[in-house]
Order: sequence, then C-alpha cells, then structure tokens
Amino acid sequence: MKDSEVELLKAIALDPVLFVRSIIGVEPEQWQCDALYAVRDNDRVAIRSGHGIGKTAFLSWLILWWLLTRTPSRVACTANTASQLSDILWAEVAKWHRRLPEGFRNLLDVKSDKIEFIGGDSFAVARTARRETPEALQGFHSPNMLFLIDEASGVDDLIFEVGEGAMSTKGAKTVMTGNPTRTSGYFYEAFNKMAERWSTMKVASSDSTQVSDGFIEDMKLKYGDESNIFRVRVLGEWPEADDDVVIPMHLAEAAVRREQEAAETTPVVWGLDVARFGSDKTALCKRKGNVVTEPIKTWRNKDLMEVCGIILNEYETTSWSDRPVEILVDSIGLGAGVVDRLIELDLPCRGINVAESSSMSDKYSRLRDELWFAAKEWLEDRDCSLPDDEELVSDLCKPRFKFTSNGKLKVESKDEMKRRGLNSPDVADALCLTFGSRASLAKSGSRYRWNSTLDYDSSGWIV
Ligand SMILES: Nc1ncnc2c1ncn2[C@@H]1O[C@H](COP(=O)(O)OP(=O)(O)OP(=O)(O)O)[C@@H](O)[C@H]1O
Ligand SMILES: [Mg+2]
Repeated sequence: MKDSEVELLKAIALDPVLFVRSIIGVEPEQWQCDALYAVRDNDRVAIRSGHGIGKTAFLSWLILWWLLTRTPSRVACTANTASQLSDILWAEVAKWHRRLPEGFRNLLDVKSDKIEFIGGDSFAVARTARRETPEALQGFHSPNMLFLIDEASGVDDLIFEVGEGAMSTKGAKTVMTGNPTRTSGYFYEAFNKMAERWSTMKVASSDSTQVSDGFIEDMKLKYGDESNIFRVRVLGEWPEADDDVVIPMHLAEAAVRREQEAAETTPVVWGLDVARFGSDKTALCKRKGNVVTEPIKTWRNKDLMEVCGIILNEYETTSWSDRPVEILVDSIGLGAGVVDRLIELDLPCRGINVAESSSMSDKYSRLRDELWFAAKEWLEDRDCSLPDDEELVSDLCKPRFKFTSNGKLKVESKDEMKRRGLNSPDVADALCLTFGSRASLAKSGSRYRWNSTLDYDSSGWIV
C-alpha cells in the first residue's frame, strides 16, 4: 500500500465526515456531521427526530465506516421490525455500498443478513428485536463493537436489558435513533433519567434538506401544529401528556409497525361510520381478528344511496373468503337509512346506536365509550396490527376521556372535539365500530372468548 493510501486510511478512521464526503461521495447534512462526530467522540449517542431527516442513511454510513476502518470489528444492528431492518436499513447500506470506489467496495460483501469484510475478522449483522427472542444485542465480543438501534422508541425494553452487559463493555459504542413516540422506555430515559450516560440530539424535519417544505406544511394543515402527530413526526418532540387521552400515541404507533397475520379462519368484520355533517367523512374499516387488513377507505359528500352503492360494490368485489360476517354501521342520522338499505340488499349489516347506554358493562356511560375502550384494550394486547395510515393514528389519539359524576368512563364527543379545533375522528370511529360485533371479539390468544349470540360454524361463518 502506498504511503498516501495509508495516510488516507488513518485520516478517515479518525474522521467519519471525511469518510462520508470523500469515500462515499455524498455531502452529509449539518446534523449528520454533528452526529457522526458525536459517535466518534462518545460511547452512547441517542438521536430523536422527525421523519425523513436521513437517520437510516446516517446509520448505514456508520456501518460502512466502522467495518472499513476498524479490524477486527463487529456491528450489531437491530430495529423494531424485520422490515425496518431488511427492507429499509439494509437497503440503505446496499445503496451507499454501491457508491464506494471499487477498491473499498470490493472489501465488503453485502449479504441479506450480514456484511462481511473480505479477508478480515469484521462483520455487521441485523437481528430483529423481538420480545420472544430478546438476544438481538447479546453475545458479541470484539474490541471494536458498534451497536445500532433504528426506531428505538418501538424496541421492547427487554432487548436493552438483555443487551446492557454487551453495550457496557469497554470500548463498545451504542447509537439509537428514532421518532420519539412514547414517553417511557429505554429510548426515552436516555434523554431523561439516564441523560448523563448519553450524548443526545434532537433533529426536527425542518433541520434537514432531505425533507420537503411541502411535507411539513401538509402535516400542519392536516393535523395542526399543536397535535401530537406533528410534535412527534415533524418536530422530533415527545408527545404531550398521554394521561387524559383514551389511546396514547405509542400504542397506535406500535401497532402500525407490528408484523402480524390473522389466522386464515378468523372472521372479517367491517365498521362503517357514515358522515353526519358536510365536513365529516364516511369511513370503512375492515378488520380480521387482530389485523386491520387495509388502509381505511373514506368518502366525502356522498348521499345515502351513494354510500349504499359504494358498500355494495366493496362487498361484491371482495373475494368470497374475505367477505365480512358483519358490517357494523353507526345508525345515528343518515346511518339508519344505510342500515335499512344494506339489509334490503341482503348484506350482513347491523346498526349500532353508539349513543345508547352501554350494554355489557356498567363501567361506561354509552356504547360509544365502550367501543373506544375495547379498541384500546385490543391495542394494549400488543399482538395486533394496523396499516400504515397516518390519519388513523392521528384520529385514534385525539379523544380524551373523563369520568361522569356517577363514576362512568366517558369519551369526548365529536362536538367537544370540534370545539377544540379537531376534526371528527371518523377513521378511528370506523375501527371502533368493528368492536361492536361479537364475532370480531373472537381472536386467538387473548382475553376475548368466542361468545356469540349468532350461530357460527367452526370457521366463523354464520350458519
Ligand atoms: N445527506 C444526504 N444526501 C443525499 N441523500 C440523503 C442524505 N441523507 C439521507 N439521504 C436520503 O434521503 C432519504 C431519506 O433518508 P432516511 O431514510 O435515512 O431518513 P429517515 O430519517 O431514516 O426517515 P424515516 O423517518 O422515514 O425513518 C433516503 O433515500 C436517503 O438515502
Ligand atoms: Mg429511517
């Protein structure tokens, strides 16, 4: 190796920004420069941020820098879901690996779950952080150890507890990045109780040129700059106190990122919230046990007959095996007409008057309160999955609750929410309606039992 090459290698080993600029050939954002130096100079770095600022790119540059400048070395990467790791982080590593000059590129072999330094004792691996297999960060021994955790807010604390020993080894470095979705857990504490042990950064979406002004404006218009979703996804701020909302944001966010499949035979239930005012939307949610199977569909400015036509068409174009055993419709106002007509059309439709007093429990004021708390329990079971639907998450986290004078739980009404300047949570109401079906309560491995007043055969079809 020429002297000049040895000098270059020494320089890039000490300067990750120089490595990114001169070897990968990309100009890092200012925050990415600060973060790269923070990793060089500290053992523990935690970065909370808004969306799309270049976190995952930054982690992928760290992997390449570490493997190409330290030997022997190990990089252990984990994230909240398998797809975050394989489809996003690993894809990002592959993208920047392709940009390396040939001499450097040929030193690394990027496989689907491992990146190996050819001819040396260095490699990076990706392991999904799962509660059932919490050893994602455990079992690594190397004088040059780098732990990377993407979307750390969504990673179960047990993974960190099990990995703490390895992370505390002398010389090991740990880097956590993520959206600050919850005000508890290991990631949160790195910025609070454990702040002395961590070098921390906060990056708003507006601090990165990778995020378009349009995204920030859209988020502001859609959800308001006071909303939790704006705080978390744009500002990189923790959500405001969760104690008076029915569904805290981290529960909904966790369900979005969870990979879950419903058992083949689980019956499908639809919830239909029919618009009442001009500004409201008609929303249709399709739920198969613990999985909401597709983003919630919405329509504006449709009259009764148009809504019926749309639902009939949805039903007829759904494959036989995915058809709902029940379509639950909020029967207040226009909804009542929709119920009558859908029944007339021979669809398995049932009207639910959410304003009625709660039937099954004296804990709640009305049926609507019971349905919202059923949705909360469903999310708390932590084995359910929601589609990546920003509006659904935002809607679910809107309503607050209080106790009535006779001690019953009452969820904030749509009118009360409108007075707070919030739109009606139509999309979430459609999901809540699906909990009005006895059939929808049937799901394996949970506290709910198959306990229907309708007669179903063993695979969940009405007989
Ligand atoms: N400095 C940069 N120069 C050019 N492209 C960049 C830079 N930083 C990031 N990118 C690219 O911008 C896009 C978004 O970056 P990335 O996925 O890393 O953001 P993120 O913060 O992880 O987003 P999310 O919040 O969705 O997880 C990616 O295509 C990435 O390759
Ligand atoms: Mg990312």
